[in-house]
Amino acid sequence: MPFAKLISIAAALIFSAAMSLSAQAADAPKPLYERLGGLKGITLVVDDFIDRLVANRTLNKNPAIKAGRISSPPPYLKFQVSQMVCEATGGPCKYTGKGMKESHVHLNISEKEWGVMAGEFKKSLNKFKVPAAEQKELFDIVGTTKADIVTRP
Ligand code: HEM
Repeated sequence: MPFAKLISIAAALIFSAAMSLSAQAADAPKPLYERLGGLKGITLVVDDFIDRLVANRTLNKNPAIKAGRISSPPPYLKFQVSQMVCEATGGPCKYTGKGMKESHVHLNISEKEWGVMAGEFKKSLNKFKVPAAEQKELFDIVGTTKADIVTRP
């Protein structure tokens, strides 16, 4: 085969491989962080969510949770939870707060209180019109912390 022909076949092969790679990149879903609207989207949801938790009557019936609001005021919680969600969803942040066991073990959180938290979280996600698929993905991530947070049946 003449050399020029060989070169043109090789070029065609490289071109089609490159096209298929770029098509794959276009098909790959964006990281959850981006689909949530980056830090702007995440901080809006977290801000609303922490306001709901702090005001929640059922959660405040637990004296340990109520006391925790004073030792960790809402702006601090909003900052830490936003950093954590940003990192866990593939964003550029680095969470530097305490581990989930260490920060919740003394709060005596029950299964029922976890359910109340989940309901309030959903209200915040709905308020900012986070689509169902992203809500599920995010809540699956949050769910990985449950075993460290819930210490009462
Ligand atoms: C029923 C569920 C929950 C309740 C009632 C709750 C309540 C609290 C309270 C009161 C504190 C402050 C504790 C203190 O200063 O003594 C705290 C800290 C914190 N919580 Fe939760 N929490 C819950 C679930 C979660 C979940 C699901 C996440 C994240 C996935 C989370 C992330 C955090 C973070 C990042 C901190 C701060 C850690 C630090 O101080 O470095 N919490 N939580």
